[in-house]
Amino acid sequence: LGSLISKISPNLIRYASSASASGSSQRKVAVLGAGGGIGQPLSLLLKLSPLISDLSLYDIQHTKGVGADLSHIETRTKVRAYVGKSELSDALKGMDLVVIPAGVPRKPGMTRDDLFNTNATIVADLVSACAKNCPRAIIAIIANPVNSTVVIASEIMKAHNVYDEKKVVGVTTLDVVRAATFIAEAKGLDPAKVNIPVIGGHSGNTIIPLLSQTSPPVSFSQQELESLTTRIQNAGTEVVEAKAGAGSATLSMAHAGARFSFAVLEALSGKEGVVECGYIASRETEFSYFATPLLFGRNGVERSMGVGKLSDFEKKLIEKAKKELNGNIQSGLTFAKQYL
Ligand code: NAI
Repeated sequence: LGSLISKISPNLIRYASSASASGSSQRKVAVLGAGGGIGQPLSLLLKLSPLISDLSLYDIQHTKGVGADLSHIETRTKVRAYVGKSELSDALKGMDLVVIPAGVPRKPGMTRDDLFNTNATIVADLVSACAKNCPRAIIAIIANPVNSTVVIASEIMKAHNVYDEKKVVGVTTLDVVRAATFIAEAKGLDPAKVNIPVIGGHSGNTIIPLLSQTSPPVSFSQQELESLTTRIQNAGTEVVEAKAGAGSATLSMAHAGARFSFAVLEALSGKEGVVECGYIASRETEFSYFATPLLFGRNGVERSMGVGKLSDFEKKLIEKAKKELNGNIQSGLTFAKQYL
C-alpha cells in the first residue's frame, strides 16, 4: 500500500502515514455524487486515509458497486453505500464533513455557468438534506458553478436556521494545484514545494492566482505573468477539450478534493496552522463571497487570511473579475429565493 500511495501523491504519503490519526480523532465523511467521475477516485483517496473512520457514499446510481469495490481495500475506514433519495438521510446522519461533487460536468464549448440550471437544483436538494440530517457538518462544494452553488448552499442553510458561515466552503483547491504545477514547470521547481494562493472565484476571469506571492519567491516577466495567469484560468477548459465530450477534470479534481478534505479533517482534530484556499462568505473584501487562503480549526474555517499585498497586475485582475463574480453571486441568490 505504501508504494501504491507514493505513486498517487506525495500529500497522501503524509496523511496515510500520519501517526496523529488516533481513534478519537477519526472522522465521518460523506461523498455526495460518489458514483461519478470525480466521486469514485475521490472516494478511493479518502478510503486510504487514517483520518477517516467512516466513509459514506451517496449517489443516484453506481454507489453499491463502488462501495463493494472500495470496501475490499485493506484500511480501517468503514465504507457504506447509499443509492437514491430514500437513502440520503441515512447517508448523512452523524457526518463531520460532506463533500459534494454531484452534478453534470462541462462538455466542449460550455462555460461553468451553462451548468447552472441542472446543478443548482441538485446542490439545493442535497444541502437541504444536510440541513436536516447533519446541520453541523462542514459542507465542501465541488459542483459547478462553484461561484453560485456555494451561495445557494448558504441560503438553504440560512432558511433552515442552521447556517454557520465557517462551514460552507467552495473547493477551489484545483486552481491552487494547477498554479503550483504550471509555475513549477515554467521555473524548474519541485511542484510539491511550490505554493501560490489563488483568490476570487472558480471560473474564467474570477480565478486570480497571486503569482507575486509565489513561495518560494520567483520573479516573472510581464509576458510570463500574463501567459501563466491565462493558462491557470483556462486549465479546466484544456481538460474539457482534451476529453472531447467525455467530461471535465476528474482525477486531478479528486486529488484536489482529497487534499482539501484532509486539511479540514486535520484541523478538526486539532492540528494548528492548517491553511487552504476556499470560496466562502466574505467580510473582509468588497464581495459577499470570495476565495482567499483560509485558516482551518476545530470548528471549520477559523478565519480568512486575507489577500495580502497585491501587485498592480493582480489588482487589475480583481477589477476585471468584478462583474462576473457579482453576477454569479446574484444568480445564486435569485435561484435560492425561487427554490425556497
Ligand atoms: P459526473 O457526471 O461524472 O458525476 C456526477 C455524479 O453526480 C454522477 O454519478 C451522478 O449520478 C451524480 N448525481 C447527479 N444528480 C445527483 C443527485 N441529485 N444526488 C446525488 N448524486 C447525483 O461528473 P464529474 O466529472 O464527477 O463532475 C461533477 C461536478 O464537479 C460537475 O459539476 C463539475 O463541473 C464539477 N467540477 C468542479 C471542479 C472544481 O474545481 N470545483 C473541477 C471539476 C469538476
